[in-house]
Amino acid sequence: MLTEKNKKTPALVLDSGALLFKQPMLTGPAEDAAKRTAQGIARAVRTMGTRAIGIAPRDLAAGLSFLKQLARDNNLNFLSMNLYPNRGTAPVFKPYLLTRAGTLKIAILGLTGNPRNILQNKGFHVLPWQSILPKTLREVEKKADMIILLSSEPRRTNEEIARKFDNIHILLQSGQGGGNQPPVNINNTLLCQTAPQGKYAGFLQIDWNDSKTWNKQVPDQLQKEQNRLDRINWQIGRMQKRNTKQALAKNTRFQQLLNNRTQSEQIIRQLQAQKERNRRPRTACSYENRFIALKTSLPEDKTIKAIVDQTRREVNQINRKAQQKLRKRKTATQNATGNNDFPEALQGLAGWPACKQCHPVQTSFYLTTNHAKAWQTLADLDQQYNPECLLCHVTLPTYDAGLVQREKLLDMLPLELQGVGCESCHGPARGHTLTPAKVRPVKPDQDTCLQCHTDERDKNFNYTEKIRKIQCPAG
Ligand code: HEC
Ligand code: HEC
Ligand code: HEC
Ligand code: HEC
Repeated sequence: MLTEKNKKTPALVLDSGALLFKQPMLTGPAEDAAKRTAQGIARAVRTMGTRAIGIAPRDLAAGLSFLKQLARDNNLNFLSMNLYPNRGTAPVFKPYLLTRAGTLKIAILGLTGNPRNILQNKGFHVLPWQSILPKTLREVEKKADMIILLSSEPRRTNEEIARKFDNIHILLQSGQGGGNQPPVNINNTLLCQTAPQGKYAGFLQIDWNDSKTWNKQVPDQLQKEQNRLDRINWQIGRMQKRNTKQALAKNTRFQQLLNNRTQSEQIIRQLQAQKERNRRPRTACSYENRFIALKTSLPEDKTIKAIVDQTRREVNQINRKAQQKLRKRKTATQNATGNNDFPEALQGLAGWPACKQCHPVQTSFYLTTNHAKAWQTLADLDQQYNPECLLCHVTLPTYDAGLVQREKLLDMLPLELQGVGCESCHGPARGHTLTPAKVRPVKPDQDTCLQCHTDERDKNFNYTEKIRKIQCPAG
């Protein structure tokens, strides 16, 4: 989001892409759910008044016609100067948007990152930035007071772009991981980072004027240089204590230090002068950047929440149907020989009913805790097929596997693993059920809990307090 400082300029809401899909490619039953989610995101983004959205390769996961339809249905400005159909000479979407924020004329350009080979044979291609960006910049340069580039190129390419062109004032990059990084100024381009799927939000408040030049953040540089001078002076002082004047006159290391000191003092004088100049109004443009922590404690926007809830319910329905086909069985209680018919990836687990016979005391206690009801909690909300929620409300063999890998397991979860089971805390324990004395299950510690009791879901999680409520009794 971009606002003009000290003026009641409406915020310019922008997103640089990688907004719609988690994966670069969609396959199987997950495709319908992912598309429905993308539609919900598009509606929410429109409701928030988003002025323009860059297109990252991942946004094309469901194909071009899907994206076009989404743009039409929601009246969204998807921008890309380099996304071209295989047949035809015009870009698929608008390359840029000329708009206003208050009195400022702003050009917003979209640049799609290189999709590598993931999008082959889909009826379109992505031109390299070298062949299209210079021309597009020339086209908008005269028409705007400020140029903003929404790019899904990797950071290194964006840095190269910033160094190469003098007239991009803000570059918003997305989809490269690592949100919440403060802007850096490269050749008068503010390089700003957003994260995939709108996971981070931030305010960039700017004070823009005819100089079209960002304040070089002199105080930072000045502080650094002063620290450097302090170090040099310290080294000089130490050498002076230990050596005679005659010896120092011949010491090249000492002479070098003296040179460095002169040089550093000169830089400091320049920076101080620059700082003085910046203090006078309207010499350089300034900005303030602020990230907004997305906590569950933030008040919900009612309209957006309604869109999110409806989307989630519909996704749940889609997943329910898909899974009913996948799931051939209803229950699979371990039989007397210790075999179960869990899917292979889940073979290490036994499920809570398998522990009952040898640990009746702990099992009865466990069943009184809400961990045992965690799946039912979701079902009551019609969210029991939503992978986004399930991950922490069921029993999975491991929490360090990648998200996508874990989500795959959710499709085949047997009934015994619904809910936060014994093995969420004690680790996969099938081996233990077969030879209890030989294989010991683990005892949980704070880290075990924090896999699910994250800051986002359980703020102020207090281990000592909470463990008392759920720790199994001795039996
Ligand atoms: C066939 C009987 C049997 C089954 C089934 C069984 N256990 Fe055990 N379990 C034992 C025995 C016996 C011990 C005690 C071992 C010892 O102290 O020598 C034990 C110990 C434990 C301990 C304490 C470990 C320790 O280091 O003190 C935990 C935790 C545990 N079991 C969890 C489970 C879980 C979870 C399940 C189900 C997935 C399960 N057990 C299934 C027999 C069983
Ligand atoms: C696999 C994810 C997961 C793990 C691991 C986990 N929890 Fe939970 N915990 C949950 C969920 C989900 C709920 C909410 C269940 C509900 O209300 O439906 C919950 C609820 C609780 C509650 C409230 C229970 C009640 O009966 O009111 C406590 C206390 C708690 N957890 C403590 C812990 C502690 C301590 C650990 C670590 C030893 C831990 N949890 C490990 C997911 C987890
Ligand atoms: C990162 C793990 C995690 C995810 C993902 C998660 N939950 Fe939970 N959920 C928890 C934990 C932990 C608790 C228990 C919090 C506590 O004890 O204060 C909980 C508690 C709950 C509760 C009962 C307590 C309450 O706050 O009302 C509901 C309802 C719930 N979750 C719904 C959901 C839904 C719906 C989703 C998906 C949109 C979801 N959860 C996703 C970990 C998670
Ligand atoms: C939320 C986490 C959690 C869940 C879920 C859980 N346990 Fe435990 N369990 C603990 C903790 C914590 C201890 C105490 C460990 C210690 O002594 O350090 C414990 C201890 C035990 C012990 C050893 C008791 C003793 O003799 O001291 C057994 C056996 C056990 N659990 C079995 C089970 C079984 C069976 C289930 C499921 C029916 C289960 N646990 C579910 C956290 C959990």
